[in-house]
Amino acid sequence: MSEEIKNLSDLSNYEYGLQKIFQEAEDFLPLLGTDYVELYVGNAKQSAHFYKTAFGFQSEAYAGLETGMKDRVSYVLKQDKIRLVLTTPLNEGGELNAHIVKHGDGVKVVALWVEDATKAYEETMARGAVSYMEPTRKEDAHGYVVRSGIYTYGETVHIFVERKNYHGVFLPGYKAWTSHYNPAPVGLKFIDHMVGNVGWNEMNTWVEFYGKVMGFAQIVSFDDKDISTDYTALMSKVMSNGNGRIKFPINEPAEGKKKSQIEEYLDFYQGPGVQHIAVATDDIVATVTAMRQRGVEFLYVPETYYDDLLERVGAIDEDVETLKQHGILIDRDDEGYLLQLFTKPVVDRPTLFFEIIQRKGAQSFGKGNFKALFEAIEREQENRGTL
Ligand code: FE2
Repeated sequence: MSEEIKNLSDLSNYEYGLQKIFQEAEDFLPLLGTDYVELYVGNAKQSAHFYKTAFGFQSEAYAGLETGMKDRVSYVLKQDKIRLVLTTPLNEGGELNAHIVKHGDGVKVVALWVEDATKAYEETMARGAVSYMEPTRKEDAHGYVVRSGIYTYGETVHIFVERKNYHGVFLPGYKAWTSHYNPAPVGLKFIDHMVGNVGWNEMNTWVEFYGKVMGFAQIVSFDDKDISTDYTALMSKVMSNGNGRIKFPINEPAEGKKKSQIEEYLDFYQGPGVQHIAVATDDIVATVTAMRQRGVEFLYVPETYYDDLLERVGAIDEDVETLKQHGILIDRDDEGYLLQLFTKPVVDRPTLFFEIIQRKGAQSFGKGNFKALFEAIEREQENRGTL
């Protein structure tokens, strides 16, 4: 190992790590990117309006009674490379209703774009995955799509999407959704990472799942000393696929004096699930300004956070006063720095939220901001009476 590192000494640890795991992971599960994220929600029509208005998503595709779908309705929204699908059942009973009753609105599917969905299914099943959907081919006049799926933590699933033979708007069964209401995008580009919260002592089980079943490698680990305040704590490990396009941090609660945000999530989501979706922007100030104007609520960061900012992170391109005005957090690692900000939960339960992130070289996850972030969440928990 040390020999290899010497030979690759021109690479940073991060790049070296990715190259190394790419060679291993590429063999059996090459992933081209995130294909879509599907939320099961109580009212897809109204959720779609929210994500268009507040987050700047564009109307993309629709399936429902008008397209021959009898039991559900789905709205597909797009912004640059990010695709959201919002799905609501049309009748009582069934898996969708059960999911919404138990979890509230939340992420059901993290779909991954692959060359070969049958192979992705066979390879992951052979390594111990639990099946959600056998390889299924659907076609219409625009070609065909093959999808297959496996379970991950809780009731969350990964669907592998093979769309190389399809030229329609989204999937067979969907029609283009044109709307007279088209708010401008806010500069959200792609999904940077998606975080899962799992139960007590379950983090390593899921780290192992992503390692063994999906060929991911661990790129970072945080223990409760990294991520704790006077009251609450959590532990986290970040799993990445070979090309680094898919990054899944996994959190579990750790013992603290009071209830951690992860426990609060698990209580309200009734088990493990997606905690936040981090989306990248090239201009966080412009993005956050637009989102605030459109009604998105962000966590409040006290002004004292900015007092020693430049001593902590060194020179940055942005004006500190501007960052302070927007409550944007900054952290630096060996490779550069990043700017980030977190919304309040976007659903009724204190569960799912979004992170807006702009990377300027840094490939890390804002470790230096964890304390400030946690304290901001605790203030919200205090208001909810769940601390
Ligand atoms: Fe994050």
